[in-house]
Amino acid sequence: MAGGLATATAAFFGAAGPAATASAGTAENVSRGAGRRLLGFPAIAPSVADEVVLPPGYRYQVLFPWGHPIVPSGPAFAEDAGNSAAEQALQAGDHHDGMWFFPLKGRRSGLLCVNHEATTEQLLHTDGLATWSPEKTAKSMAAHGVSVIEVEQDRKGRWRLVESRFARRVTMTTPTEITGPAAGHPLMRTGADPGGVGVLGTLNNCASGPTPWDTYLTCEETINKYFYFGEQPPRAGSVEERYGIGSESPYPWYGTEERFDMRVEPNEYNRFGWVVELDPFDPTSTPKKRTALGRMEHENAVVVRGRRGEAVVYMGDDTQFDYFYKFVGAEPISKALRRGRSPLDEGTLYVARFEEDGSGRWLPLVHGEPGLTEANGFADQAEVLIRTRLAADAVGATPMDRPEWCTVQPRTGAVFFTCTNNTARTESVNAANPRLENRFGHIMKIDEGRNPSAETFDWDVFLLAGDQASGATVPPDQAFGSPDGLWFDADGRLWIQTDGAQPKIDGAEQNNQMLAADTRRGDIRRFLVGPPRCEITGITSTPDRRSLFVNIQHPGDSGTPEDPRAGSSWPDHSTTGRPRSATIVVTREDGGVVGG
Ligand code: FEO
Ligand code: CA
Ligand code: CA
Repeated sequence: MAGGLATATAAFFGAAGPAATASAGTAENVSRGAGRRLLGFPAIAPSVADEVVLPPGYRYQVLFPWGHPIVPSGPAFAEDAGNSAAEQALQAGDHHDGMWFFPLKGRRSGLLCVNHEATTEQLLHTDGLATWSPEKTAKSMAAHGVSVIEVEQDRKGRWRLVESRFARRVTMTTPTEITGPAAGHPLMRTGADPGGVGVLGTLNNCASGPTPWDTYLTCEETINKYFYFGEQPPRAGSVEERYGIGSESPYPWYGTEERFDMRVEPNEYNRFGWVVELDPFDPTSTPKKRTALGRMEHENAVVVRGRRGEAVVYMGDDTQFDYFYKFVGAEPISKALRRGRSPLDEGTLYVARFEEDGSGRWLPLVHGEPGLTEANGFADQAEVLIRTRLAADAVGATPMDRPEWCTVQPRTGAVFFTCTNNTARTESVNAANPRLENRFGHIMKIDEGRNPSAETFDWDVFLLAGDQASGATVPPDQAFGSPDGLWFDADGRLWIQTDGAQPKIDGAEQNNQMLAADTRRGDIRRFLVGPPRCEITGITSTPDRRSLFVNIQHPGDSGTPEDPRAGSSWPDHSTTGRPRSATIVVTREDGGVVGG
């Protein structure tokens, strides 16, 4: 089966011992394994504490929890969740996810863009989902989207928010432009927008990515949860079924806002599921949905420069048996920007096919190619993009175990991506998804020979997560599951964040966590463990890597209006408060590089 799998085993088994390291198998390990150590901290033990746990010598600060005003003069957080929708629109949203730090020149400060993926409605409102009202819809919509805040570090090393002309919230009511091949298409038109070029808001902003031209990409993920189709679910084989629309919506927005009722407005949902570009340095700018990048349950978007200087964007579609994608821009970034065009509006979207022999191909999703014709239900390129998943089905892409984040190795250009888990894989495996009932997930590695514009690649399974019983390729004391967030820092440390089932260690449960890996030495160490029921997601750092920003999403989300602290009371630990998603800043007490 997998040359890939064997390599992964060699890369991590026995990595703790010098002899094992010397015999480790990848070419990368053999040739570079003697390099300087990237991981300078001791691995921490698993934890179920209602706290963020870090290695000795590290500390963290809660910087930006849900409800925190985006400028110091903004409305204060009410710990009984009594803030209004209007106040929420000036505060941090809920469910912090992907983010990025944009340094401001000449100061120890920067702009932090933070995604707010979703909400825990039972904790967002004082009485939860009871007595639903237009005000509750408005507050919920205001708790989604993106925050842009300006932060600075004082002489003692503490970070704080400052009054800033850049500070803004983007929410589900922010006017947003639709650009690229699908703009104006009949499937993008609604009663409120007959031209199909503008939509209110961005939704389920999962992970993110910076661009080389200093903008921020925020990626729309599980949009299906917000639209109501009717009492009967979509018919089997329909486009709506393929995009996960069911007969229920856990968000009651459709009761007070008709655009979320598909019986009234069938096209509004086509206007979500895109990668959205935001210029954090222009607080009056309109966010833009870049339709050339396809429509799916986007996780993050990683932009690099291709061989001709064009934008290349890697992206995963996080659903069981969905795909991994790449966009290659039509012209060099500099040329597009010079002409006042977006480097993301023209180009080719590809989907990955992983062959059993460790090779792979990028299959172009271009109208007129075999399978992507009018006879097959694609009238034009806009339909190929609006129905990206069906186009990828038609060309024979490889169904994966829920592709989440991807990241590019700074020195080699290799692309790594997480397949978080897939318990629905009960019938057939393939070399790239080698486990039945893949409860704990794996991490893939794509090698394009240092040419991001390539149409072919080699691939490996980089590691299998889980415990030894599940066939994991990580040391038993570092066992983890459901890898999701993934990021190479500039030194080459691979940060792995988890969301979901964690294997027991010596019979003990463990909370979601973040680990760091040295991919050259085959070393992996648990660095951070979060409070109960959270996921760890979102990571960015200052350029000197001495302040690491990490998001703790939905701690204690089992809380109820009657007992909001049932699952956790992190971070405030107030006897009258509730758990809050939050951005934290991790630093070293000696001021050194985090992880080093
Ligand atoms: Fe938003 Fe798939 O995580
Ligand atoms: Ca995720
Ligand atoms: Ca996840």
